[in-house]
Amino acid sequence: MITNKTLFDTVNGEPVYKLSLTNANKMTISCLSYGANWYELLVPTAAGPQNLLLNFAKIADYQTTNQYLNMSIGRVAGRIGKGRFKIGEHDYQVAPNERGNTLHGGPHGFNQINWDSTVVANQIIFTHQITSTDDSFPGDLDVTLTYTLTDDNQVLLDYNVLSHGETVFNPTNHAYFNLNAGDENIKNLELLLKSSHRLALDTEKIPTGKTLVNTDTPYGFETKKTLGAAIEGLQNIPEKGIDDVYLIDRHADNDPVAVLSDPDSNISVSIFSQRNAIVLFTANGFGPDQPYLTKTGQPYVGVALEAQTAPNAIFDHDYGDFSLQDGERQHYQTKYQIRF
Ligand code: GAL
Repeated sequence: MITNKTLFDTVNGEPVYKLSLTNANKMTISCLSYGANWYELLVPTAAGPQNLLLNFAKIADYQTTNQYLNMSIGRVAGRIGKGRFKIGEHDYQVAPNERGNTLHGGPHGFNQINWDSTVVANQIIFTHQITSTDDSFPGDLDVTLTYTLTDDNQVLLDYNVLSHGETVFNPTNHAYFNLNAGDENIKNLELLLKSSHRLALDTEKIPTGKTLVNTDTPYGFETKKTLGAAIEGLQNIPEKGIDDVYLIDRHADNDPVAVLSDPDSNISVSIFSQRNAIVLFTANGFGPDQPYLTKTGQPYVGVALEAQTAPNAIFDHDYGDFSLQDGERQHYQTKYQIRF
């Protein structure tokens, strides 16, 4: 494994580092300390290394959009209606950042932190203690985010926390994939996603508590089909694409929950997760003002597949429970198997 750590940029006078790992097959991942961001997923091709992720040249570009491009997301992915929730009998209200609701950890989430970082053996390791003073969530949380690269082309993303006081923890990663080498959108890519139902959302995209059927609708990917086929079938809805919480169907532990593939190059990314949901977001409203390094900003320029616990678990424990008690540890892992 080849490791590297270099200066990428600065933020508030602090250095932002780029850390990288290259395996025996010349596959490279790199991350930025700002946002514990997954910056690159480079695979070797006849034309040279190809990045399967969208990325920007500088931190200011990450800060001027609300795309959460490849950011680590926490403490709680998705939207908390009015920033209000309960843990047991205790009511909490956290800072809002979108129409009075709290999106992706609120205004001071994981994506805003310049993490302590190190690269050792085959791992990039980020650590930070986030406190209630920092982000208004109850309790302090010691967080370690680890990206591991293996010689069989797997990327393991591990979230390990220790809670001081009761809190909530439902992290994800907001990587946007585009497996095309050229300046194309993602409509030609095929997706398999083991989900027959998604959460119903209100007009502010807060879960209502109800579910909707995906099977045999544009939303269904239980049999693989192109993202374009789904998007074409959704041109009559305001979003003109997908931004939905897919509930993962029962599946064998060693089966992927999602597979994204390019039928022309045979490059693919299989996602393994034990959590019960994936948010699928097809970058519907993205535009030309975003200076991605290898793609022109346009609708459907990338696709995010965000493994997480269903966000309505915060008010309905039939969908899981991501609260933590004082002194409790939690571990989640998302595994990506890359083929090229
Ligand atoms: C997704 C969310 C979208 C949008 C996006 C970031 O997780 O569902 O509505 O906020 O993140 O641009």
